[in-house]
Amino acid sequence: MKILIVGGAGYIGSHNVRLFLDRGYEVVIVDNLNTGHMSAVDKRAKFYKCDIRDKAELKAIFEKEQPDGVVHFAALSLVGVSMKQPLEYFSNNVYGMQILLEVMKETGVNKIVFSSSAATYGDVEKMPITEDTPTNPINPYGETKLMMEKMMKWCDMAYGIHYVSLRYFNAAGAYDDSSIGEDHNPETHLIPLILQVPLGKRDHISVFGNDYDTRDGTCIRDYIHIMDLADAHVRAIEYLLKGGESQIFNLGTGDGQSVNEMIVAAEKAVGKPIKKEYAARRAGDPARLIASNKKAKDILGWEPKYSLDKIMETAWLFHQKHPDGYNDK
Ligand code: UFG
Repeated sequence: MKILIVGGAGYIGSHNVRLFLDRGYEVVIVDNLNTGHMSAVDKRAKFYKCDIRDKAELKAIFEKEQPDGVVHFAALSLVGVSMKQPLEYFSNNVYGMQILLEVMKETGVNKIVFSSSAATYGDVEKMPITEDTPTNPINPYGETKLMMEKMMKWCDMAYGIHYVSLRYFNAAGAYDDSSIGEDHNPETHLIPLILQVPLGKRDHISVFGNDYDTRDGTCIRDYIHIMDLADAHVRAIEYLLKGGESQIFNLGTGDGQSVNEMIVAAEKAVGKPIKKEYAARRAGDPARLIASNKKAKDILGWEPKYSLDKIMETAWLFHQKHPDGYNDK
């Protein structure tokens, strides 16, 4: 079986490439390397440097490779940046999806697994969040992911392109051998920023708000290991290949950790104290986001396996090995 992975050089994409290859799939990667890293590309996969908005090039790749299915990660994904540059997000994410779906339709590829986000829900009161929770994104990033889901819904009805949309909560951790992991520029995510303190690259971690209505006043998130996410993608493709109908699934552990608890977990992995300072709230941060993962468990038979300790341990190994990230740009 041949799977075309769009955005396979990025954080979540590269870990998926690894697992699909390990599970015996033939993998073709398409990535424009805008935010992805060539160092994260598995040599066993075939690689095309291509921006999916270049229709002629993308179509030629599809015609040549004739994949059995597509897994789509290629998108801009920084919430804060999306507030300042919404048009770039619409172009990369929404227009990119437009071209991808056109090419799939024209080349007869009718299965796609899509990298969506809990950001489609926005600020939700009632936890845990189920797939039926209303979607009200509060930033352009989340809006684009929701628009991309809706594009797939209508293309399913019109052209029979079946999809599985996976709404991730907080992706975290790294591959067990620490060869690949999380490297964003700029880095805005909590775990890599916490680990920059013991690496000597940052004096302290700023905790954005300690006056939330949560057990210790800091924000609660549902951190899910990157290889648990990857496992869900393989299951989703298998589900579609077996003829499953289009679906949306949340991917999270169903458990939430506060920012303070994450710092304690990092101290345990690192083996020394990590200096923190309380700072103002970050605009747009909901107090808590916790997934109900029942649907993914019931339909995909998915079960997250990595503990919080393992998330921190793998992240710490990766950042020790790559203190400046991949350093390949
Ligand atoms: N945080 C800090 N200090 C920091 C960085 C983050 O206290 O220096 C806090 C944030 O306020 C938040 C938590 O740590 O409460 C996690 O923040 P991240 O930036 O790591 O992740 P987010 O929850 O903001 O974002 C994640 C994904 C997004 C997705 C969003 C909503 O990274 O892609 O969840 O689903 F849009």
